[in-house]
Amino acid sequence: MFSEISLTFIGHSAWRITHGDHDILIDPFITGNPVATVKSADLHPTHIIVTHGHDDHLGDAVDIAKRTGAHLISTFEVGNYCEARGCGHTTGMGLGGANMFDFGRLKFTIAHHSSSASDGTYLGNPAGVLLTLGGRTIYHAGDTALFLDMKLIGEMNDIDVALLPIGDYFTMGVDDAVMAVEFLKPKITIPMHYNTFPPIKVDVQDFIGKLEKKGHRGVIVDPGGAYTIGAGGA
Ligand code: NI
Ligand code: MN
Repeated sequence: MFSEISLTFIGHSAWRITHGDHDILIDPFITGNPVATVKSADLHPTHIIVTHGHDDHLGDAVDIAKRTGAHLISTFEVGNYCEARGCGHTTGMGLGGANMFDFGRLKFTIAHHSSSASDGTYLGNPAGVLLTLGGRTIYHAGDTALFLDMKLIGEMNDIDVALLPIGDYFTMGVDDAVMAVEFLKPKITIPMHYNTFPPIKVDVQDFIGKLEKKGHRGVIVDPGGAYTIGAGGA
């Protein structure tokens, strides 16, 4: 039932999740991302998931999708926006909706933030993502404030890895993200959306320390690094 899943941190909120033949990019902000260690042209995803329309999340998604033919999955508005810009295979979903894809199940959760393109186009509401593949559940919160419904997400899902923004200013900061972990109860939390730019500089060790004090496990993955969920029980 369980098979190895690798989560490579591209930097900021950009992740590459690989499982078997599936190669999934989430929020591929690479060009202009000061901490990214890969080039957009070197990525060959099968799927691209976009949480919202801000440049630091939509990023290179359209370019990569057009170059590779990857299946782009996002909210209804972002999906339409990408389709209008030449992405041939897009799926636009609504918040709270789940769908089965060839890699597994994807559900968009709420996120308290905003979502618009850099050209001002309205792109609906931002989302978080619950991914279930290889018998595991990964929650990528997108950009969000702390919200009490995270408790519901934690109750209804057995989250193996939570990818949470901790950089403050645009999203949850350290203390709000610690409370988010209390609500979500993931086995492992990996912080993201911090130290990319000066306004979101935080002490990540402070976050890990505060998590540990509450009995939770946090893992720091540096840009270019990876966290692997093993084929075994843990
Ligand atoms: Ni944003
Ligand atoms: Mn952002």
